Amino acid sequence: MQYNCNHSYNYIAWGVRRYICGQYFLCAFACEVLVRLKIIAGLEFGNRKSIWYYLFMDVVTKTIEETKKVAEKFLAELLSRKDEATLVALSGDLGSGKTTFVQQCAKIFGIESKVTSPTFVIMKKYPIPEFSKRSNLNALRFFVHIDAYRLKSGEELLKLNWQELISDPQNLIFIEWPENVMSVMTQNALQISFKSLDETKRRIVL
Ligand SMILES: Nc1ncnc2c1ncn2[C@@H]1O[C@H](COP(=O)(O)OP(=O)(O)O)[C@@H](O)[C@H]1O
Ligand SMILES: [Mg+2]
Repeated sequence: MQYNCNHSYNYIAWGVRRYICGQYFLCAFACEVLVRLKIIAGLEFGNRKSIWYYLFMDVVTKTIEETKKVAEKFLAELLSRKDEATLVALSGDLGSGKTTFVQQCAKIFGIESKVTSPTFVIMKKYPIPEFSKRSNLNALRFFVHIDAYRLKSGEELLKLNWQELISDPQNLIFIEWPENVMSVMTQNALQISFKSLDETKRRIVL
């Protein structure tokens, strides 16, 4: 009797251990599959955001209007830096929607002049109108749009007064193709990734 009791106790303990291990491995496997799918989908992995952020914080927009809503959400949650410029790095292939996103941000800030892609001039600077000030972005005075597509290294950006620009907390800087000027990007740059899924669908990872 004593023997049987021990035997069944051992059997249950073994079953429980196996069950827990099974659940653990199932969970780990599911996470691994999700992560791999994300990698296959072309999303980038930075070192400042948790894995959950990448699993759940991306959106797919089907129209420019929807992209504008994402821009609105982004700006509503953005906090400007007090010690240096607020830098936003936009990654993604040509046509994935980086410039469109910046244009929508400019619109939300009430910037009247047309924000065209600065591919040839590299950089454009717009004053942010007083009326569009929001409490979270109160300190910002200038909206800067940089397209580093044609640049080969960070050195080229340094020649365009980058140090002065990046050290001024009044600047909100959007930079396309940050990969081309990695050496001058600050640690605090916020990353947004774009991917074109088809003619009108764009995946945005904030
Ligand atoms: N959902 C969408 N969001 C953003 N742009 C879209 C969307 N659907 C289609 N587009 C189009 O995709 C193109 C994106 O171009 P652009 O913003 O210049 O890309 P990039 O700056 O990444 O090269 C634009 O012509 C835009 O009208
Ligand atoms: Mg562009």
